[in-house]
Amino acid sequence: MASLLGRLCLPHVPGVGWARCAPGGPCLSQARLCSAGAFVQSVPPQEEADSKVSAQKKTFSELQVERSEQAQRTVLINCPANINEKAFLKYLSHHGKINDHYFYESLGTYAVVEFSEKESIASLQDVTRTPYVEKECTIPFKSRIFTLSLKNPVTQGADRPSVHYHKQSTILCKDLLQKLCRADNVSNQLYTLMDECQLTEENTKLRFLACSLIQDIARAYFPDSTVQPFGSSVNSFGKLGCDLDMLLDLGEIGRSPIRTNTGPFYVEYQMKKVPLERTATQRILSVIGDCIDNFGPGAMGVQKILNARCPLVKFSHQPTGFQCDLTVSNRAAIRCSELLYIYGSLDSRVRALVFSIRCWARVHGITSSIPGSWITNFSLTMMALFFLQKRTPPIIPTLDQLKALADAEDKHIINGNDCTFASNLKKIKPTENTETLHVLLNDFFEYFGNFAFNKNSINIRKGKEQNKPDSSPLYIHNPFEQGLNISKNVNQIQVERFVALARECSWILQKKDKSQSSLCNKKPWGLAALLQPSIAKSSLKNKKQLALASERMQSLLDSLKINSAKRE
Ligand code: GTP
Ligand code: MG
Repeated sequence: MASLLGRLCLPHVPGVGWARCAPGGPCLSQARLCSAGAFVQSVPPQEEADSKVSAQKKTFSELQVERSEQAQRTVLINCPANINEKAFLKYLSHHGKINDHYFYESLGTYAVVEFSEKESIASLQDVTRTPYVEKECTIPFKSRIFTLSLKNPVTQGADRPSVHYHKQSTILCKDLLQKLCRADNVSNQLYTLMDECQLTEENTKLRFLACSLIQDIARAYFPDSTVQPFGSSVNSFGKLGCDLDMLLDLGEIGRSPIRTNTGPFYVEYQMKKVPLERTATQRILSVIGDCIDNFGPGAMGVQKILNARCPLVKFSHQPTGFQCDLTVSNRAAIRCSELLYIYGSLDSRVRALVFSIRCWARVHGITSSIPGSWITNFSLTMMALFFLQKRTPPIIPTLDQLKALADAEDKHIINGNDCTFASNLKKIKPTENTETLHVLLNDFFEYFGNFAFNKNSINIRKGKEQNKPDSSPLYIHNPFEQGLNISKNVNQIQVERFVALARECSWILQKKDKSQSSLCNKKPWGLAALLQPSIAKSSLKNKKQLALASERMQSLLDSLKINSAKRE
């Protein structure tokens, strides 16, 4: 083991806190080996999380490409709950080899079936009939979502146990708290929470499939386009049930023209001209939104929100159960997802801490699913990453340090903004910090409970506090457009609530240790105690609560107004 450690742990590059590892060297596995003390005595949940970290060998883009390609060979089949799995697979395998399949429940039983070849889908489509409906009429759009029924339900379905369903949502809060209370220590509580909440392999595949189904629609107009997931579906911080952020990329045709020098002529497409790129985005989204609304099987509640800062189409995709947000030309957001993915992959503590903080914030209404002046999950993640950059020694590198490790192929300039950073995880030397998650969680609350939000801003590019460029109550620099504040929406009340709760939670964590509370009186302890909604009450004065409630109600009313206006 000693020689292995000696071989794996390479020195830092002078001047850059984060050094390159030997090409091809297994640097990720050393992440935990180097932060040695903790590793030797590690307990099962952490070991499991660490082994997952060390198993990640592909880059983010390689994974995205692989999953997108898989999704294009996949179909979604609504079937009877009492289907005979063996007979079902035998029937489908007439169309080609099946690589993988699983069942889940979403207003019925669905099977996700991944064929080994794309041609198998065409073969299945050849034998698929248009549904017969008596009083309505169907729109003959051939998608990859099918309904399969039994020719003779009496004999085919008799007494058959239903198939095994893969879970698509998190366990109940009550059950989660019980699980947390059964953990050995606070650090393991954080790992347990992450294990319960994180996206499963099957759920991730389903997200790529949903994107691929929307891509089929977009390709009717833009044959080179792709629809890819971004945000928490792919950045490694996604929780079961989180929304599905989709990016429609029009391919080369949507980018700035490059003049090729072939022969004595230039050939250009004749294209419609519009005054602004934003106008083009709005028009494209409007048409694709209509197509999804009119032709997309299972797409419900389509809303075109074209005047937002980042125009989008929102809809609910019923067969997969995802709430989807479709945007166009937002390539920086994909880069941002990759950056978060890299941070989440560097050390198992990063994701565990972020999951717990996000969950804590949601329980106490610090974040919300209703748009408004609350802190968003994205901002909260930036705060947690910033905090981890500030540890001694730092747990993750700054964005500038990641940029210093970048190669030529990592160079990305998007709309004039430098989005360059090393994308190969093997190049990033792991931290030597060995602090436990218990310490980190407590210090996170203490750090932000005492942060000078009135004068300082948070910037993961630099990894240090800076003077706020303006008077926004919370200023978090956009990592790629440094002049922009990603938490501009947040008001003073929300910052004060966050600070009050952070202080309260730091106090609770320090006051209650496991032996004192769990073993003697079976009360929730550690992280479970922090997830009790009652904490919020004691940390807030009535007046502030009232102000918050009325603000929340106003926001809810506003969003209802917007929705009903859109329906009219
Ligand atoms: P969830 O709450 O789990 O959906 O987290 P999320 O990270 O997916 O957040 P959200 O759906 O709100 O946004 C999706 C992605 O858009 C984020 O991960 C960011 O990459 C990007 N994003 C969100 N808000 C902002 C913002 O204010 N500024 C910028 N530049 N990007 C943002
Ligand atoms: Mg999201």
